[in-house]
Order: sequence, then C-alpha cells, then structure tokens
Amino acid sequence: MWGKRSDMIIHDADPFNAEPPPQALAAEAITPVDVFYSRNHGTIPDIGAQDWQLSVGGRVARPHVFTLDEIRQRFARATVIATMQCAGNRRAGLIAVRSIPGEDPWGSGAVSTAEWCGVRLADILDDVGAEDADGLHVAFDGPDVSYLANPPQNYGSSIDIVKARSPEVLLAWSMNGQPLPRVHGGPVRVVVPGYIGARSVKWVTAITVGDAPTDNYFQASAYRIVAPDIDPETIAPGDGISLSTLALNSDILSHRDGDQVPAGALTLVGYAQAADGRRVARVDVSTDDGITWGQADINLPAGRWAWCRWTYTVQCHPGRLAVAVRAFDDTAATQPESAAALWNPKGYLNNSWARITLNVT
Ligand code: MTE
Repeated sequence: MWGKRSDMIIHDADPFNAEPPPQALAAEAITPVDVFYSRNHGTIPDIGAQDWQLSVGGRVARPHVFTLDEIRQRFARATVIATMQCAGNRRAGLIAVRSIPGEDPWGSGAVSTAEWCGVRLADILDDVGAEDADGLHVAFDGPDVSYLANPPQNYGSSIDIVKARSPEVLLAWSMNGQPLPRVHGGPVRVVVPGYIGARSVKWVTAITVGDAPTDNYFQASAYRIVAPDIDPETIAPGDGISLSTLALNSDILSHRDGDQVPAGALTLVGYAQAADGRRVARVDVSTDDGITWGQADINLPAGRWAWCRWTYTVQCHPGRLAVAVRAFDDTAATQPESAAALWNPKGYLNNSWARITLNVT
C-alpha cells in the first residue's frame, strides 16, 4: 500500500494510517521512505507537479500564486534532515493506563527521519512582503477533506510567525533525494522541524498570514492537550493547550515488550530526540526497572533537527529483564517517569520513560 513495506502496521486503510515495526527504524539514521510512518485524516489527493499552485496572502504586501517551477527557479534551495513525530506517537502507552476511545493505538513507530529539500518558507514570506509583527501566525491549508473533523473540512494548521521565519522551516518537494511521494504530501508539503507532525501540512495549497492561529478544526479543536477530567466529545474550539514543540523523548526500537532473548550479551538500540533543536546530552538505560542506570553510547545526530540513535550492551542471565530508558538534554531536563502522569483524553505527547520487559532464556 502506497509503496510501503508489507510489514507496516496498518491502523486504517482510508484515511491511510500506518507505522513501521520499531525494528525497521532501528537500522538507519535516515528512515527509508518505504518504512516512514504515514498519518492522514482524509483521502490522499492526487495533484500533478504541473497542476500544483500555492496561493500566499493575508497580511502580505503582494499576494501571489506560485507554481512549482517558479518556486524552484526563483528561490535558493535548502535541505534539512529532520525527524517528524506525530503527537500521537506512543499513545499505546497512555491507553495502557486508561482507555482512549476513538483514537488509534499508535506504538513506537509514529516517528521517522528524512532529508527534506525545497525552499525556505521565510524566503517566500519575504518575497510577498509578509508583515513581521509579534503575535502573527502563518496558516497552511491542504486540499484533503477530513470527515473526521467536526464539521467536515479540509486539513489545515498554523504556526507562529517566529517559527515560520526560522531557517529550518521548508516547503519541501523532495524526501531522501526523491520527488516527494504523494502519500507524504507530494508535490509540495510544509516541514516544520521540532514541532508536532500535525503542523507539517501536506499538499499545501494556501498560506495565509493572520493575527491569530487558524480556526481550522485541526488547530482549534484537535492536537490540544485537555485536562484528564474533560470529556473529549464536549471539547469546544480553543479549549485546552495548543501543541507546537515536541517534548524530549526516547524509545527502544530493537526489541518489543515480551520478546524472548538468549542469555549472554544483549545489545539494545533506540533513539532520543531533544525538544526545540536542543541537544541530547545523555541516554540512560536501566535493566532493573529504574533502580540503577548505565549510560548508552550515543551517535551524533545527522543534524540539529534529527534524532540521535543510542546503543547499550548488557550481559543478561535467564529470567525477567525490566528495561527502562530515559534521555537528558543539554539543559539537564529529562523525561517524566510515568505515562499515568501524562494521560490526556486524546492521547498526545507521551514522552514518559520507555519500558519493556524481556524474557531471557
Ligand atoms: N497534512 C494534510 N494535508 N493532511 C493530513 O492529514 N496529517 C498531519 C501532517 N500533515 C496531515 C497533514 C499529521 S498529524 C502528521 S503526524 C504528518 O502530516 C505525517 O506526515 P507523513 O504522513 O508524511 O508521515
């Protein structure tokens, strides 16, 4: 399906929602396109590169409709290696605390890393003479209609003007050196490194500079943290806390909860990613359920906006091995211990310690 590997875990066929088995992410720093997760809220549109148009307006001096040829010819090319992570990544860990009706139980695989190439959004904003006052927002509209929204509407999202003007934010037409595949937003998508994946709008057809976040359902009602005692059916636009930056996170990719492993040397592999372009300073691994810890080896990330991968080798003996992992960033911030402390009615942003239990035979 959509050129993905046959061992992808398919949550829904249409809208297409699929994540790789975590082991598929453990192999390489840049995720091959055929195992890169995909998250969609509507049917995937089919827009030819020659037909694609981007209208840019709102609080700009010179509203303009761009074609792909024009963008490619007139603006400098920019490349960013960035990890994309859905706000629902690791939701299964929250569901294990308390059920979350109506939301897919995404595991460890709603996170992947690619080399994105295109142009800087800042250059487009400069070209149309976008205003630059504090408090402005830049809204992105996609053409895909979502019947999961209330009321049904096209997918849209927005980010603050400061992030929009940051050099890492791209309008990308290429992923890992290939034309951006349709399922990932081809011909052109927004890539907002460091923010939840929901802000990286695919098949973007309109950009509007405005003085408030967009009132699109996926900004105003979804992708917000609401209090644990709120019934999600009663959420009104603007309720809760809007999500933007991802939290410091880490996970185990090489093994899954309940795996059997032989006694002897065991090498665990995973990733860690710091929030907001910070650096991962340390990854700790415990094999006694968080009582004592050892330090994992960390590979340098492929760039400021990319995850880093860690490995940890331990000698293990027959019995139960309770593994826990936590990362620290360069401000000494670390991850919360328990998923229960983070549970929220829509199941977003689980960045608690990663934990699995292995059976050593
Ligand atoms: N853009 C559009 N137009 N429609 C969508 O449904 N899903 C968002 C975002 N951009 C979405 C979208 C979400 S929630 C995520 S996590 C990322 O796309 C996933 O991007 P991917 O499918 O390329 O992995």
